[in-house]
Amino acid sequence: MNSLSVEHMLGIKYLIKDDINLIFKTADNFKKIINQPIKKVPSLRDVTIANLFFENSTRTKLSFELAEKRLSADVINFSSASSSVKKGETLLDTVNNILAMKVDIVVMRHPNPGASVFLSRNIKAKIINAGDGTHEHPTQALLDSYSIREKYGIVEGKKIVIIGDILHSRVALSNIYCLKKLGADVGVCGPSTLMPKYLDSLGVKHFSNLNSALNWCDVANVLRIQLERQDVQLFPSLREYSNVYGINKNVLDNLNKNITIMHPGPINRGVELTSDVADSEHSIILDQVENGVAIRMAVLYLLSLKK
Ligand code: CP
Repeated sequence: MNSLSVEHMLGIKYLIKDDINLIFKTADNFKKIINQPIKKVPSLRDVTIANLFFENSTRTKLSFELAEKRLSADVINFSSASSSVKKGETLLDTVNNILAMKVDIVVMRHPNPGASVFLSRNIKAKIINAGDGTHEHPTQALLDSYSIREKYGIVEGKKIVIIGDILHSRVALSNIYCLKKLGADVGVCGPSTLMPKYLDSLGVKHFSNLNSALNWCDVANVLRIQLERQDVQLFPSLREYSNVYGINKNVLDNLNKNITIMHPGPINRGVELTSDVADSEHSIILDQVENGVAIRMAVLYLLSLKK
């Protein structure tokens, strides 16, 4: 297989296992290139890409922009905070105006679940979902699984536990889809108030005890508590959350094995992870960031081949 089965990158739900493996193989090549003295290739010359961010981002925005520039694309950036969205312009009008400037690919982050699916049905451009509300964040899940593959050589059969705010996390949902398609054993761990009602339908193990989860897993992917998405208080306090579900060096030292720590960022240091864990030899958090560029180059390149 040398072509994706999809026209857009809207969510991991829509991919088949061969798509994911093709993205990984392509990212392997791009990772070699971006570690050479000349990091740029002409693959997307004459392709114009608009990065539309209707919600804050550091890693995803910079990573997409760097990936696009490494591929020699023409890049325009849009941030809703400084745009006419503030004057009441609709999403479709905003995007249609940008497309009138002859844009080929749109990378969009939006607070509303389904926003990128909506765009893909209404405009003629390739759409990449860079995170849509609590729904999906496909390139984050791809770079997470790619980082596990890099660490262990294989994802199939590995035990991955996702810890924290599963209810509000697009990273969790995309990771669960991606890891399961690749044959990993997936668990989730956190307070029951931060677990979605549809958890059983996802086919994952549920741990309420942190030590049981960590003793079971090879990899712990630790999520940020998303206070900005909680309309009501779902646990007593950050301090109590940290006492029960936070990972510090003492927690890791008391396990009967070594595990790998991941985090999609941004980290609430001292809440879900202490610095002596986030910055330790167990952590591959900065490898995830590095791999994000190669994965996004692969996704952009493979989508650009679809006519
Ligand atoms: N991981 C992630 O999506 O980070 P940003 O919100 O900074 O893009």
